[in-house]
Amino acid sequence: MNAFPHNSIVLDVVDSTNAWAKKNVSAFPFDMPTLITAREQTKGQGRFGASWISPKDQNLYFTLVERKISENLLLYVEAAALAIQTLLWDWQLPSLIKWPNDILVDNKKIAGILVEEFTSQEVTWVILGIGINVNMSPDELREIDRPATSMKASLGTQFKIETIKNSLQESLLSTLAWAKNNPALCHDRFEQSCSWIIGKEITVRTAPLAKVSGIVQGMTPEGFLQIKKSTGETVTVSSGFIV
Ligand code: BTN
Repeated sequence: MNAFPHNSIVLDVVDSTNAWAKKNVSAFPFDMPTLITAREQTKGQGRFGASWISPKDQNLYFTLVERKISENLLLYVEAAALAIQTLLWDWQLPSLIKWPNDILVDNKKIAGILVEEFTSQEVTWVILGIGINVNMSPDELREIDRPATSMKASLGTQFKIETIKNSLQESLLSTLAWAKNNPALCHDRFEQSCSWIIGKEITVRTAPLAKVSGIVQGMTPEGFLQIKKSTGETVTVSSGFIV
């Protein structure tokens, strides 16, 4: 018997696995997660309206959908980030989490997470999208607007996407189950993986026209970043991206 029962959907070409999930959510089971993958995305979505470059058969485009049971959407992000780190570590690839949603290898982005909440017919769902750069070449990676790497570019090995998908599936389903039972522990581990940024001077874009700059003090128990501005004031930032 499968330790983590789930419903699997494999698509060929799709605009975005997250968008497809939202369109089709009424057909998904209530009592187990649905895992969607696609070979290619024509409109892959990143955070804050960015696009996610998604060439055919090169990378993993993965979305988990389930009924929202935990109040805390950030728990899904934390569990997903830790699950991706476990997957990469299985291939001896050490990584860091760049708060809140980016996974870095050699200071370059290798994976991203886009979590959304979606309500349809009075049921609220979590749509957890994960993109991992698997076999993208250095030339393709240069098209991305910030430093990026792939598992192949970092390790020199070509991977079967199916293998990475199975690893992510296993690691994500077990990490999520653990995180729901141990949210404080999950948060501690996530915070540890993000802690390299403490003491660094950063700027976080919190909205298209708003940013906060200062020195990172740490994280709150909810997973928000605490930043001390040059004025001496400490502000708490709940979401955004570090520029
Ligand atoms: C980010 O770092 O900005 C988040 C990137 C998330 C990309 C994945 S790929 C699978 C899923 N479908 C999407 O359109 N986006 C997510």
